[in-house]
Amino acid sequence: MSHPQILSCQAAIEQRRAVRAFRSDPIPEETLQEILRLGLRAPSGYNLQPWRFILLRQAESKAKLRACAFDQRQITEAPVVLICCGDRRINTEDYIASVIALGEQVEAMTDAFADYMRGAIPQLFEQHPCFESLEAWTNRHTMLAVAHLMIAAKSLGVDSCPMEGFVSAQVKAEFSIPAEVDVCCLLPLGYAADPIKTYGGRFEIAQVCYGEQFGGKL
Ligand SMILES: Cc1cc2nc3c(=O)[nH]c(=O)nc-3n(C[C@H](O)[C@H](O)[C@H](O)COP(=O)(O)O)c2cc1C
Repeated sequence: MSHPQILSCQAAIEQRRAVRAFRSDPIPEETLQEILRLGLRAPSGYNLQPWRFILLRQAESKAKLRACAFDQRQITEAPVVLICCGDRRINTEDYIASVIALGEQVEAMTDAFADYMRGAIPQLFEQHPCFESLEAWTNRHTMLAVAHLMIAAKSLGVDSCPMEGFVSAQVKAEFSIPAEVDVCCLLPLGYAADPIKTYGGRFEIAQVCYGEQFGGKL
């Protein structure tokens, strides 16, 4: 099914706001599925896709989450809320085999690369030269998917609010989230109630982008 794109990628990035008040209008199921489909196209190291999303639609579930999130109103107002998690259980033979099988299914995997993955992935997680902790690794990837989700949503006319204001241990206990899974972010999705918060501005490129070394003039 094709979906009418409401905004270009550029307009979606420019017009997205962290929305604190939502109308009660539901998100059409096809639109929600399309947001998820596009969000899950985010990249990940070795295509391991460690993100996991719990979708809350029931008022009771959202009320439970709001109580873990400093009573922030957008959680119960939004028609759908995602609990965005990162799963640290990706360094197992079975899981690596499932990623290889996926690559084979879409004809994007050679035997040589599959062998390389079977050796390199366990090594990456044992030595972890590229990250401080597995939690940092899951966060890195899950938040990329969250960024994709927010832009995909806005391009289809759906607003969002990324949220770190929650007590992770409480969310994990309330929603049966395993110990090896990190809660990275909450993401209410829906349609903004007026007035939408105005743009808060961003630092100039030259303030946050450097040339050749940290602090170097661009
Ligand atoms: C990781 C992350 C966590 C955030 N947590 C919250 C939150 O708990 N509650 C909230 O109202 N806004 C939250 N925000 C929204 C920011 O305040 C907002 O993105 C920022 O002020 C810039 O505004 P804009 O997104 O509308 O451009 C969060 C944003 C990010 C990226």
